[in-house]
Amino acid sequence: MQVRKIGPFTVSAIGLGAMPMSMNEDQRYPSRDEAIATIHAALDAGVTLIDTADVYAPSWHEMGHNELLVRDALRTWGGDTAGVLIATKGGITRSEGNRWGRDGSLEYLRHAAQTSAQNLGVEAIDLYQYHRPDRGMVYGEVMANLKTLQAEGLIRTVGISNASVEEIDIARDVLGEGNLASVQNEFSPKHPGSYGELVHCENHGIAFLPWSPLGGTGGGGRGVGDRFEVFREIGDAHGVSPQQVVLAWELSLSPVVVPIPGARRPASIADSAQAADLRLTEEDHTRCSDAIGIGR
Ligand SMILES: NC(=O)c1ccc[n+]([C@@H]2O[C@H](COP(=O)([O-])OP(=O)(O)OC[C@H]3O[C@@H](n4cnc5c(N)ncnc54)[C@H](OP(=O)(O)O)[C@@H]3O)[C@@H](O)[C@H]2O)c1
Repeated sequence: MQVRKIGPFTVSAIGLGAMPMSMNEDQRYPSRDEAIATIHAALDAGVTLIDTADVYAPSWHEMGHNELLVRDALRTWGGDTAGVLIATKGGITRSEGNRWGRDGSLEYLRHAAQTSAQNLGVEAIDLYQYHRPDRGMVYGEVMANLKTLQAEGLIRTVGISNASVEEIDIARDVLGEGNLASVQNEFSPKHPGSYGELVHCENHGIAFLPWSPLGGTGGGGRGVGDRFEVFREIGDAHGVSPQQVVLAWELSLSPVVVPIPGARRPASIADSAQAADLRLTEEDHTRCSDAIGIGR
């Protein structure tokens, strides 16, 4: 499969977003066996990036649910997992009554990263992403906290998520040039609004991971070819799904893009993974970009 870089890591150009197996908009969860089979299908297809988070869980008292699934799937897969990058996230809190919050303090992030490392069964987390800005804190101070965790050896590389161009620049400044590995923002035909951040990442050699790259759970991802017909038309011409065309189009926007399509079923990720090797023509690319209103 085509590969891309995230900081020092080389990963498959298409990753697996593991969230829907533990948290999704239509609140339909696969059985544990189906979830493990879905992660195995990703690995079988050559996917070497799995995105998870401590908060991906059906309810507040099951924090770590998704990380544990990922760990168990890696342990029970027959192949070599040495080259698989597990990216997790911290900084969002869930507490009794399913109350959501944010916490970017050093104490909280250290505890969260330690718990995630334990859940994943690793000594150090390869890619730790700050999930969402804690608006009660100065962004640069949170970045300094992540730098401390890196210096302590708890996390190997730092990524950020749901970040503006200004926040990306603060992270670059505090972490030091070349030390911000990735930015994970929502980006899809339905939500092309973070294209500016994508371009900014390309300009600075930072991996850009579109989240909900197909339009999300709850029907957005499944129905992307109905809502945006251009992807279905091009898919029909190539004999592939509209989802593959969406992901191939996102890949063709920039060499720093690494989409992480979510899946609950093995068939979804097996299909999505093939987008890495789908070659769109220049005309296909332009048609998609024009339909979504994105300049190259
Ligand atoms: N950083 C953040 O704040 C944030 C927020 C949201 C999500 N994320 C990350 O982004 C990842 C992906 O987002 P997402 O799961 O919300 O949305 P998504 O990837 O846009 O869409 C997932 C949905 O599309 C369906 N699907 C996927 N591939 C398909 C294919 N080839 N053919 C037909 N249907 C297909 C899935 O179906 P099935 O479920 O039936 O398999 C699922 O319902 C998450 O897993 C998570 O890791 C991050």
